[in-house]
Amino acid sequence: MARSCLSLILAAGEGTRMRSSLPKVLHEVANIPMLSHVMRVCLEAESDTIAVVAGKGSELVIDVVEKENPNASVHVQTERLGTAHAVLAARDAIEKGVDDILILFGDTPLLTPETLSSMREVLADGAAVVVVGFYANDPSGYGRLLEQGDKLVAIREHAEASEEERKIDFCNGGIMGLSGEHALALLDSVDNQNAKGEFYLTDVVEIANSKNLSVKALEAPEAELIGVNTRNGLAEVELLWQNTARQKLMSTGVTMQSAETVFLSADTIIEPDVILEPNIVFGPNVTVKAGTKIKAFSHLEGAIIGENADVGPYARLRPGTELDKGSKVGNFVEVKNAKVHEGAKINHLTYVGDAEIGAKANIGAGTITCNYDGLNKHKTTIGKGAFIGSNSSLVAPVSIGDGAYVASGSVITDDVPENSLGIGRGRQANKEGMAEAIRERNAAIKANRSKS
Ligand code: UD1
Ligand code: MG
Repeated sequence: MARSCLSLILAAGEGTRMRSSLPKVLHEVANIPMLSHVMRVCLEAESDTIAVVAGKGSELVIDVVEKENPNASVHVQTERLGTAHAVLAARDAIEKGVDDILILFGDTPLLTPETLSSMREVLADGAAVVVVGFYANDPSGYGRLLEQGDKLVAIREHAEASEEERKIDFCNGGIMGLSGEHALALLDSVDNQNAKGEFYLTDVVEIANSKNLSVKALEAPEAELIGVNTRNGLAEVELLWQNTARQKLMSTGVTMQSAETVFLSADTIIEPDVILEPNIVFGPNVTVKAGTKIKAFSHLEGAIIGENADVGPYARLRPGTELDKGSKVGNFVEVKNAKVHEGAKINHLTYVGDAEIGAKANIGAGTITCNYDGLNKHKTTIGKGAFIGSNSSLVAPVSIGDGAYVASGSVITDDVPENSLGIGRGRQANKEGMAEAIRERNAAIKANRSKS
């Protein structure tokens, strides 16, 4: 039978070094809060319950937790008295009784489900405590892992470590697994008799050893355990996240001509045989289907792009955009809340908002759907195979029938029936010989000026 698992995420950090009014764990990596990354990793590692410990007054954190996972519980640590004290703020959740408890920090968004699964394996093998360590280039500030053989004897916080102990570079990454059976007894035995006067979670290692329980350390890459404390740290983690995501996409068959210039979101889906030119930003919620090419300098969010479509260069796709198979959106085109059916083309300098564009329709350069009257948004419907001449304004609500034509430069305020030609512009008049008359008049004016 599968073992039950509680993931307990400490998210009470004040984050003063971020110099932000936003709680630290809500700063975003790949366009979702760091806390959401950690919550998602827990699910991927098949943790059935999630409890988040938030600081006092962090309604924003509570909102994010509820949105991310309505089944997660939120517990408030009213005073910041140390990591063990923070864990015990979720006493209710621990008392429910589970096999495995994973204690994680909300500011380490690069954690992988593999590491969590390895921790769970160690617990399943009978360990009461498992700690994830890493070899630090610069260990100062971290708790040091003191081992004897394959046994973890203690974690010595930097503040309490001796000169000798400070030379150890195997460090506590901060995340810990506890067996549900022993967790409360261990946590309740922690006191605050130390340099910082805090209840250190790390003390459970020595306590468990004194009870002859098995305590193990696991190693994970340092990058996975980076905790964000500053904006620089946030940028460093973003870069690592982006690099990993780019590599993953390329390994699944996506071509990136200049991978380091493509920015992805946590939920970006790109199918194989998509080609990405340089400098593309994928905002939240974009799916690109197989065989499509996205050209340079395009910005996409909230869009679904069908197979073999052609987007950009310099395209802007905003939320609610749906491009069907083989459609084309070219340079300096903005599309918002619009469905573009199969094979339709919007090639240049156009705004299409709140619209439906029929299959194989052709939208000329400079077409604008006038969707907003200052109060409400209105819809433009363009039929199959319709042809919109360049520089036309389609004043919504309006519909252009299947196979209809709109003459260039029209302002269309009434529906155009199918297969009809809509012209909405002043008529052209040619005045014979008038050009010569104008030239003569101008020459006379110039001659007069040079006399005076
Ligand atoms: C902690 C570990 C240290 C480890 C390091 C890794 C302890 C005692 N020390 O040290 O061994 O090397 O992380 O980064 O655990 N928190 C609360 N409430 C509190 C105190 C902390 O929610 O009362 C949260 C913080 O928001 C943070 C996390 O717990 O997310 C760790 O606390 P922090 O003060 O950063 O501990 P470190 O000194 O970094
Ligand atoms: Mg810290």
